[in-house]
Amino acid sequence: MRIAVLASGRGSNFQALLDAANSGESNGQFDGEFVGVFSDRPEAPVLQRAATAGIPAWSAAPAGFASRAEFDAALFSAITAIQPQLIVMAGYMRIVSEAHVAQWRGRMINIHPSLLPKYTGLRTHARVLAAGDAEHGATVHFVTAQLDGGPPIAQARIGVQPGDTTATLAQRVLGREHPLLVATVAAIAHGDIALADDSVLYRGRPLAMPLQLDAQGALQRTDGNPHPP
Ligand code: GRF
Repeated sequence: MRIAVLASGRGSNFQALLDAANSGESNGQFDGEFVGVFSDRPEAPVLQRAATAGIPAWSAAPAGFASRAEFDAALFSAITAIQPQLIVMAGYMRIVSEAHVAQWRGRMINIHPSLLPKYTGLRTHARVLAAGDAEHGATVHFVTAQLDGGPPIAQARIGVQPGDTTATLAQRVLGREHPLLVATVAAIAHGDIALADDSVLYRGRPLAMPLQLDAQGALQRTDGNPHPP
């Protein structure tokens, strides 16, 4: 599968995908080719990771464009030119205009550090602590026009411990984000996941609840609709 990655920062989620695709004796955990990395921050460390891996990168600062529409037109024309089959937003900190979201519907996913639908947007770790939640985590979802609001595909959960800070939560959630994103992209590459209208199909059947990442890094169906072996 030809995969494009959008990222704004450090790129540890991108690195996890890259390592998983290239690991092992054969093709690794999934058969994926990273055809481009795209960023709205020309100084983002993710671009260095792309260069090290020999993957083409594109970046531009939105300040150099007259509008969001113009920036997105340039970005998505660069993306379309490399013909990806899947776009992964891995820490891409910018809203994408609706026309492009619609164009890539069902083929663009995002990872968000909360158990959606809780805590869309920013500062998720601080908001979990302020609310006194016992549980936190991350979600991979299809991208729609609603910010962090598209149909969820899979989640990873962690317990919130006494003494946790935003830094400890961010670190533990990130440690689960990596296997969550790898397992979800692997399932998509394998043809197990699709978007039909507003529901996610897993092996052809609608998910009533997002898949859950288990301790071994495998995705499990938990909505009482077990998948065939
Ligand atoms: C992750 O926590 C991701 O969920 C959030 O931004 C962070 C990106 O981390 N949206 P990295 O750039 O992948 O290291």
